[in-house]
Amino acid sequence: MVINRVVSFLSLMGAMFTISSAFATEIEVLHWWTSGGEARSAELLQQGIESRGHIWKDFSVAGGGGQSAMMVLKARAVSGNPPTSAQIKGFDIQEWTKLGFLTSLDDIAIEGNWDSLLPKTISDTMKYEGRYVAAPVNIHRVNWLWVNPKVMEKVGVSIPRTWDEFFIAADAIKAAGYIPLAHGRQPWQDATVFESIALAMLGADDYYKAFVALDLDVLSGEKMVQVFSAFKKVRGYIDGDALGRDWNVATQMVMNGEAAMQIMGDWVKGELTVAGKVSGEDYVCVPAPGTDGMFSYNVDSFVFFKSHDPSRGQGQKELAKTIMSKSFQEAFNYSKGSLPARTDVSMARFDDCAFQSKTAFTMAEGSKNLLPSLSADMSTTSYIRDAMIDVISEFFTDEAADPNKAPERLAKAVKAAL
Ligand code: BGC
Repeated sequence: MVINRVVSFLSLMGAMFTISSAFATEIEVLHWWTSGGEARSAELLQQGIESRGHIWKDFSVAGGGGQSAMMVLKARAVSGNPPTSAQIKGFDIQEWTKLGFLTSLDDIAIEGNWDSLLPKTISDTMKYEGRYVAAPVNIHRVNWLWVNPKVMEKVGVSIPRTWDEFFIAADAIKAAGYIPLAHGRQPWQDATVFESIALAMLGADDYYKAFVALDLDVLSGEKMVQVFSAFKKVRGYIDGDALGRDWNVATQMVMNGEAAMQIMGDWVKGELTVAGKVSGEDYVCVPAPGTDGMFSYNVDSFVFFKSHDPSRGQGQKELAKTIMSKSFQEAFNYSKGSLPARTDVSMARFDDCAFQSKTAFTMAEGSKNLLPSLSADMSTTSYIRDAMIDVISEFFTDEAADPNKAPERLAKAVKAAL
């Protein structure tokens, strides 16, 4: 009797295996989600794919901001062997499509009604000449300040809401023996801090003119001198070991009370969540100084490489559908620290940082306050962005750099890259 049951169970399993393996396809996905919180979130995508009977092949390339991942991807694509799918953002989506590498997602997008599910700013970014070529996972806000409230309390300072308040608090924190700002000196992280200062000091109009419209007068103008001056001042509040430090290591410093604050996008919250930290108790999130009401956005998305293999095409469709499913968007973004890209996902489980972000996004949407992030590759082509970030990061590295001369250099670098 028992043997009979075991035999029929095994034959049932065998039949199931044959059915799923007939359709199972290997899906190789390139991404750079390798920190604790990111890896936990990437696992949810893997589980989504596996639950549809497919095989996930992980192609992760470490390096916050994704520059290393993009280099590796280019090498693979040029040698005619791209992965099934890759995490690509912003203007790069257009560039890869123009070069003929990407497959259209329009049939799935029309079938799934993506136009009505996504905010227009997001759906526009996912399209090339009006057709979907990328599937969005989330909406990250970049202009955040992450604070350890216990350190602030011990020092006796309140959370800064303007840059003047930031420098006053930072002096007191430093004098009390803590690191005011946890930072990793990598070019994209330098640019993240610079971007928040620029939002505050240029305001939305001039931020747009400088980093989206590439207006050389604004790039080289008087207000940009103020931005570089404040940026230089910030350098005095980071520790001497910051060179090359990863962003998540900087987050650890805020978590363990070595440092008081960090300026970084809300992937930081993914890191805090995976460590069991609770918003409002272990940490506080507020908009980066002077950027209340502004929202610099960063959208993670996946593109799909053309292939003659029909099973690959099937796998790509399944991945795109998984990404856009309500359940995945809810679970993934809860874990990642971002907002779901879909507007109809329940936020019941999310915390106050997510609510702040959602409110800020909704208020900023359709106004000049919703701005594409420079540091996260959303505001211009990666070629021009890299040229700007070189100037920004070299300035931050050079202790003797002159804030009066930097804007001119920034404008020249942009002009040469145009
Ligand atoms: C990505 C985030 C990621 C962060 C740090 C950004 O470019 O958009 O998803 O968490 O880099 O790795």
